[in-house]
Amino acid sequence: MKHIIAAVATLLALGAMFVVYQSDKEVNKMGEISKMIAKSQVKVNLGNNAPVVQQQTQTEAVSNEEIEKEQAKKKKELDEKLNALKSKAGNMAAFKVSSLYKQKCSSCHGVNGGGIIGPKLLGKSAEEVHQALTDFKSGKRKNYVMYGLLSKMDEAQLKSLSDEIGSFEQKLKAYQQQ
Ligand code: HEC
Repeated sequence: MKHIIAAVATLLALGAMFVVYQSDKEVNKMGEISKMIAKSQVKVNLGNNAPVVQQQTQTEAVSNEEIEKEQAKKKKELDEKLNALKSKAGNMAAFKVSSLYKQKCSSCHGVNGGGIIGPKLLGKSAEEVHQALTDFKSGKRKNYVMYGLLSKMDEAQLKSLSDEIGSFEQKLKAYQQQ
């Protein structure tokens, strides 16, 4: 009987040990699982970090693009201002003209005869201009605009305008040599 009790006790003890061993294993498993979870969290964190880094480079790229756009815009504005100044300079008188020419002729032929709507007068001789004006006025050369303008002018005005326009080229050369 004692032997039987001893055997049962041993069995129980063994059983208990087994249970303890098993639960130890469980604990280990739990430990491993939590390690795995921790690892996966690290991975997840890394996964989150990577796009953040990418996003940063993207925002940098965008801001560079914006800076370039801004610079291009400013350059365009400057170029436009420069062009405006240039065309203003192109319309600016290089030499003084009579008030008659300025008032009656410059709007179409340019402040210095460079030509706008009307043809370029710069480089024409006084004789050429006088012939043209006479022909316009007489109607030999038909141009409604020039006829209308010249019909109210006398020969003295035609002559002085012709002489003046004939001197434009020399005046421009003198100005350019300054
Ligand atoms: C409203 C615009 C206008 C005005 C203002 C004007 N012209 Fe003209 N002019 C023209 C046009 C357009 C022609 C070209 C006509 C043609 O060839 O048939 C022309 C032609 C001429 C020509 C002949 C040029 C050539 O190549 O044969 C002379 C010279 C001339 N103009 C002088 C004058 C004078 C001087 C004045 C000021 C009194 C004047 N024009 C005012 C528009 C104008």
